[in-house]
Amino acid sequence: MFTKIISTGSYLPNHIRSNYDLEKMVNTSNEWIITRTGIHERRISKYYENVSFMGYYAAKYAIDNLKINIQDIGMIIVATTSSDYAFPSSACQIQKKLGINDSISFDLSSACTGFIYALSIADKYIKNKIIKYALVIGSDRLSYNLNPKDRGTLILFGDGAGAVILKSSKKPGILSTHIHANGKHGNLLTMPNCLNIFNKNKYIFMLGNEIFKIAVNILTNLINETINANNININKIDWFIPHQANLRIISAIIKKLRININKVIIILDKYGNTSSASIPIALDEAVRDNRIKKNQIILLEAFGGGLTWGSILLKF
Ligand code: UT7
Repeated sequence: MFTKIISTGSYLPNHIRSNYDLEKMVNTSNEWIITRTGIHERRISKYYENVSFMGYYAAKYAIDNLKINIQDIGMIIVATTSSDYAFPSSACQIQKKLGINDSISFDLSSACTGFIYALSIADKYIKNKIIKYALVIGSDRLSYNLNPKDRGTLILFGDGAGAVILKSSKKPGILSTHIHANGKHGNLLTMPNCLNIFNKNKYIFMLGNEIFKIAVNILTNLINETINANNININKIDWFIPHQANLRIISAIIKKLRININKVIIILDKYGNTSSASIPIALDEAVRDNRIKKNQIILLEAFGGGLTWGSILLKF
């Protein structure tokens, strides 16, 4: 048995924060941001566009065109680190809004790698025939955790959500999943979610340059691990959907691995780094504009706080 992605959806807030807006907030420039990150603008959520709100609409768009009994969705995972509530989880809130009566529902905290972790878990439940369908969402609004004076993080992050519906299938779908973590460098990228004597504010802290170097090495090794595990030539992969943190990270990796830039789905120019939402938003956009077609081979890969990293090879 395999797990197949049968539908995708995404939600982006309307409000745009451009590089020119950032020029008015901190000492930076449109030119610096584009050259060093590839980002032109990002979306910023309104107060009501929280993780469960954005996640619900991403899920609804994914479900809308499907002819399935919604009660057959046996699992909802929301990959997020910015839920309004620890409990009820955003997964439980979304379950309620969708009108699903009973499903395994939980939030998963694995920073920017969250969607890969969540997809990997749902895959095991489907393959083992415990559930028939799963809804996996990546939804984050890290803009609320940005220090308005920190130009190192303010320029990078934006808000959004993406979702997929998974189904068990006899035809190949998810081919392999690879998830990893190592807490050794956890201090390089942190975000408190409770204020106490150690955490005086809720802001993201990042040693960007250190993270950058580690990310390039780890992700290059991870892609090699994935293609070796599947005994597949890298040229046979139709599309690469990397986590959208910085265009220079993506460029460094594809240069090392000789991947053609035309095979890479890039959305960070429009949305910045949307954390756990970046991969499902990119997937949804490329499916909807017909770049990604049935039976193509796709590689998803992400890296984030923890540190965590992971990849998935799949046949769409
Ligand atoms: O999604 C999870 C993981 N996150 C990431 O993967 C992010 C990884 N890191 C990055 O994307 C990059 O490190 C940043 C975009 C955060 C920073 O770019 P960088 O090329 O690593 O810059 P840097 O920190 O080495 O700083 C270079 C220069 C410094 O000036 P001096 O000391 O050379 O005079 C900085 O003060 O650029 C300056 N600088 C800026 N200038 C204008 C740093 N940030 C800015 C800014 N605007 N926003």
